[in-house]
Amino acid sequence: MKMITLNNGVQMPQLGLGTFLIPNEEMTRTIGEAYEMGYRQFDTAWKYKNEKAICQALKDNGIKREDVFLTTKINAAALNRGQYKYGRRSILNIPNGRTIKDVIQESFDNLGTEYIDLFLIHYPYPNADKMWKALEVLYKEGRIKAIGVSNFLQPHIDALAEISDIVPAVNQFEISPLNTQKSLIKYCHNKGIVPQAMFTFSHFRSIEPRKGIVENDVLLNIASKYNKSVVQIVLRWMQQQGIIMIPKTWNIEHLKENISIFDFALTNEDMAMIDSMDGGKFLNYNPLGQQQGFFRKVRQREEFVEWNAEHPSNSLFDIIDLIRYKLF
Ligand SMILES: NC(=O)c1ccc[n+]([C@@H]2O[C@H](COP(=O)([O-])OP(=O)(O)OC[C@H]3O[C@@H](n4cnc5c(N)ncnc54)[C@H](OP(=O)(O)O)[C@@H]3O)[C@@H](O)[C@H]2O)c1
Repeated sequence: MKMITLNNGVQMPQLGLGTFLIPNEEMTRTIGEAYEMGYRQFDTAWKYKNEKAICQALKDNGIKREDVFLTTKINAAALNRGQYKYGRRSILNIPNGRTIKDVIQESFDNLGTEYIDLFLIHYPYPNADKMWKALEVLYKEGRIKAIGVSNFLQPHIDALAEISDIVPAVNQFEISPLNTQKSLIKYCHNKGIVPQAMFTFSHFRSIEPRKGIVENDVLLNIASKYNKSVVQIVLRWMQQQGIIMIPKTWNIEHLKENISIFDFALTNEDMAMIDSMDGGKFLNYNPLGQQQGFFRKVRQREEFVEWNAEHPSNSLFDIIDLIRYKLF
């Protein structure tokens, strides 16, 4: 497996397995098969409610902790009594008394581990600054080997830099041929942050983005030239850009296919052809809206102004968000 060196020297496998929506009862089989094939990185999150199943799957397969790289994520939903939502619904979501520290500890307990290789902030939440400070403590104690972010745009990362000297090791965000994210990838590389792709084949919301990729003529032509599948071509296109990948599947054929991308290389022309498919739009979550709490400061930045104009600010809900931000 090709390894990527993070900005603090930690080695991370370039390809791993995304586990969101893998049924818990399929976890032992899936992780066992994946491990046999050479997968050593597993991506989870508090939010996926599968950390315990992953811990059990590692035990059931006799896999040693030190032989795998585990990523998990802290989620604001863990701090609230209903599901965490921005805007109108947020009034109903009352902090439940647990602290950010408790929630981080819960992931350690669920995963049954003394250390976590990579801990991410799942989203640019209003309290991301507090989350980052809590992660920093465990990072300095050595219980977390690397810390990073997810769904952060450039201004979110810049805002974080104002309160911390620790540069995120990784930023996990949507990357696909239909949303190539060239400028965010370049920004991350320049800062020493490794981009990690998710949502490439779009697991939910709509099947359309996935169809737009797997049934795309440009990609089908390239795939037939290399005698590979479209999914393999897309993964290889990301691999050659130094991106870390975590395609999700519990289908054994797909697991095999996804890890078989290290025996060929795309030409510069084919890379450019795929780059040119960019539609410049998020196909799934759009983190542009995350401008509450700690991120209120990014509202006037160029990237957000147009979005703000299209989504007039609702000052009452902003105030409520701010109060809740002070609470947890
Ligand atoms: N940080 C975040 O906010 C965030 C958000 C979403 C996801 N993630 C992480 O990123 C991981 C991957 O993202 P994702 O789950 O959105 O989607 P994804 O991996 O981009 O796409 C998953 C879809 O692709 C299909 N697929 C996978 N390999 C295939 C193959 N070789 N041929 C054909 N189809 C294939 C899967 O179907 P089959 O199951 O049938 O193979 C599934 O429907 C997640 O599992 C999670 O760990 C993070």
